[in-house]
Amino acid sequence: MLKEKTMPTTEMATLTLRGQTYEFPVTVGTENEIAIDISALRKKTGVVTLDYGYMNTGACESAITFLDGEKGVLRYRGYPVEELAKNSRFVEVAYLLINGHMPNEIERVQWSSLLNSHSMMHEDMRHLFYQYPEHSHPMAILSAMVVSLSTYYPELSQHRPDEPEEAITIAATRLMSKVRTIAAFSYKKSIGEPFVYPRHDLKYCANFLNMMFSSPVCPYEIRPEVVQALNVLLILHADHEQNCSTAAVRLVGSARVNLYAAVGAGICALWGPLHGGANQMVVDMLEEIQRSGQGVRSYVDLVKASKGKMLLYGFGHRVYKNYDPRAKIIKKCCHDMLKALQIHDPLLDIALELEQLAMSDDYFTERNLYPNVDFYSGIIYRAIGIPKEMFTVMFALGRLPGWIAQWKEAREDPRFKLQRPRQIYVGPNMRLMNDADKTREI
Ligand code: ACO
Repeated sequence: MLKEKTMPTTEMATLTLRGQTYEFPVTVGTENEIAIDISALRKKTGVVTLDYGYMNTGACESAITFLDGEKGVLRYRGYPVEELAKNSRFVEVAYLLINGHMPNEIERVQWSSLLNSHSMMHEDMRHLFYQYPEHSHPMAILSAMVVSLSTYYPELSQHRPDEPEEAITIAATRLMSKVRTIAAFSYKKSIGEPFVYPRHDLKYCANFLNMMFSSPVCPYEIRPEVVQALNVLLILHADHEQNCSTAAVRLVGSARVNLYAAVGAGICALWGPLHGGANQMVVDMLEEIQRSGQGVRSYVDLVKASKGKMLLYGFGHRVYKNYDPRAKIIKKCCHDMLKALQIHDPLLDIALELEQLAMSDDYFTERNLYPNVDFYSGIIYRAIGIPKEMFTVMFALGRLPGWIAQWKEAREDPRFKLQRPRQIYVGPNMRLMNDADKTREI
């Protein structure tokens, strides 16, 4: 159940339409965000709102994540992401998002052992990987595998409003643990190597790296700097309030599908290049600049001249109109990581020049286009050895606790209704078929 509620207010907003005046309650969040509650708009006035891209529409009250795009603030359950990235591990942040509080020592041990006990997937699922053609995108495999979990673990596959809390916790834990295994298996499949099974003696991120990079002939050396960088990246991706994929999870979830199906929808939404798929597009773009030898300035000029047809991937955000706080941390992490691994990546030089040029160009500053979470993350993944086709899978691994927490919060909210927007019809008025249109023989 939502614990923090909007503050009660007697303030009303007035709408005047065709000479009639209507009043709607004003709602204020705990960080003083103000909304006009138009739940009764159509009932009272007979009209609907029109809001392409939901630029002005709040779809729910939520106590999970707060972000202020103007000030570049991001907090999970009240904690600044900067603090969490510095002091926590990803699994603890996942616990925080899903359960609303930081785990104490006992809860930490329990959570860790639950994640371990659910890390294997049903052995038959292994065969599904072999059915995909070579070069299948791992996001396609991931989404299909996650939805397939509902067939191997059918509890929760039918919506029951009285589902015991324990069943939900198990499904959430299964997802958290098995998605990591699925992600690593899809990579191994793509390079034709045998799968490496999860190990109970390794922590979440180290376990993932081991499943990705060790092989029967060559053990993988788990470096603490790499584990640390992966923890930071996953934490920074863990939730972002009502973004496109989370909105997809809530919308699909509103039809009361099971958690696996709702998360599958989120994965598909995340894949898009305007959303999480941008991390792969950024590296494609940097490689293209490098390969063509055209220089960063001329690439930026092409973007500007294209009038929106070409994008500087990893720049711009629907909500941040300031530097994305996650990008700030990731940029520093990127420098630290490359230094620790003694790697010089020419793509980082191109990225830095691109940022510097864009930040001193009116086109970008006037539109408030700053680097976002996807701009530098790919360079860290490359340094770790993760191929670019896997970048969005990494994003999904990080975003998973956010999707689970949002799905859980939605289903516990008594106001959670089937999400079904209205439209304004602009097609032809009623017309009748002429004889030539009538082709069916009677
Ligand atoms: N490069 C060049 N121009 C851009 C960019 C960009 N990355 N982003 C926005 N613009 C321009 C638009 O062309 C538009 O210009 P105009 O006013 O002359 O028409 C103006 O800036 C406003 O852009 P919108 O598309 O209206 O802004 P919106 O909020 O709808 O888009 C989005 C946000 C989709 C993230 C956009 O900035 C974008 O496409 N960025 C590149 C893709 C990307 O990095 N996505 C990841 C976002 S973070 C995440 O989802 C995890």
